[in-house]
Amino acid sequence: MYIAERTLTIMRALLKRYGPSKIKMILWDQEFSGTHWDFIDDTAGDCVYPHLEKHLQGGSILDLGCGPGNTANELAATSYTTYVGVDISEAALAKARKRTDENGRGGKNSFACSDFLGYRPTQQFDVILFRESMYHVPPAKVRPILDHFSKYLKNGGVFIVRMNTTDGKGGHKPRLAAIVGVMDADFDVVEKNQYGENGPTVIVFRPKSKAGEGLTRDSESEEFGKIHA
Ligand SMILES: C[S@@+](CC[C@H](N)C(=O)[O-])C[C@H]1O[C@@H](n2cnc3c(N)ncnc32)[C@H](O)[C@@H]1O
Repeated sequence: MYIAERTLTIMRALLKRYGPSKIKMILWDQEFSGTHWDFIDDTAGDCVYPHLEKHLQGGSILDLGCGPGNTANELAATSYTTYVGVDISEAALAKARKRTDENGRGGKNSFACSDFLGYRPTQQFDVILFRESMYHVPPAKVRPILDHFSKYLKNGGVFIVRMNTTDGKGGHKPRLAAIVGVMDADFDVVEKNQYGENGPTVIVFRPKSKAGEGLTRDSESEEFGKIHA
C-alpha cells in the first residue's frame, strides 16, 4: 500500500513538472478545489516579505505561481503599486481574486491563468518572484526561463526565489541544490538567507547583463524557443 501511494505521489510530482500544461492545470485545480492548500491562506510574517518590501520600494511585482493570493494580499499595501499574479490553477486564482476584492486591492492586483513556462508579461517589473514555485520548473529549463523573464525586469530589478532545499538531515536535496547552483553561477546574487536549519532560503539575484544593457528582443525569441524545445 505504501509503495503504491508513494509511486502515485512521485508520478503526480513528475507530471506537475514535466507534463503538458492541460494536465498540470487539472492536477493543480484538484488540489486547490479541496482543503490540501488551505494552510497557505495565511502566511503573514513570512520571511520573504522583508526582502520583497526592500526591493519593491513602491514599484511593481510579477508573482509566478502566485497560488491563492497570499503574497498579493499580505504584502504591505504601501510597498507596491502594481502586482500581477500568474498561476496555472483557476481554482487558486478564484481564491486570490476573491481575497483581493475583499481587501479592496482590485485597483493594484491583477491575475492571469497561464503556465508560467510559456507566459509573456506585457510590462517590465521591479521584482519577479518565484515563491515556492521553482520546484515545478524542470531543472534543464531553469536557466532558459530565468533568461526569458530577465527581459521583463526593469534596470536594477531583481528576481526573488523562496524555496526550501533542505533534506531534513542537515543536507540539501541534489535537484534543488542544482537549481540554486544555476542562480549562483549565472546571475549576480545580492542576498541569500536560509531561515532555520531546515527552513526555506530566500535568494535575491539579478541578471549579470542587467548591470549594463538588457538582452535584445531577438535573443528573447531564441531563448523562448529553447524553453519549448
Ligand atoms: C506551493 S504553491 C505556492 C503558492 C504561493 N506562491 C505560496 O508561496 O504560498 C505552488 C503554486 O505554483 C503554481 N504552479 C505550479 N506550476 C506552475 C506552472 N507551470 N505555471 C504556473 N503556475 C504553476 C501552482 O498552481 C501553485 O499555486
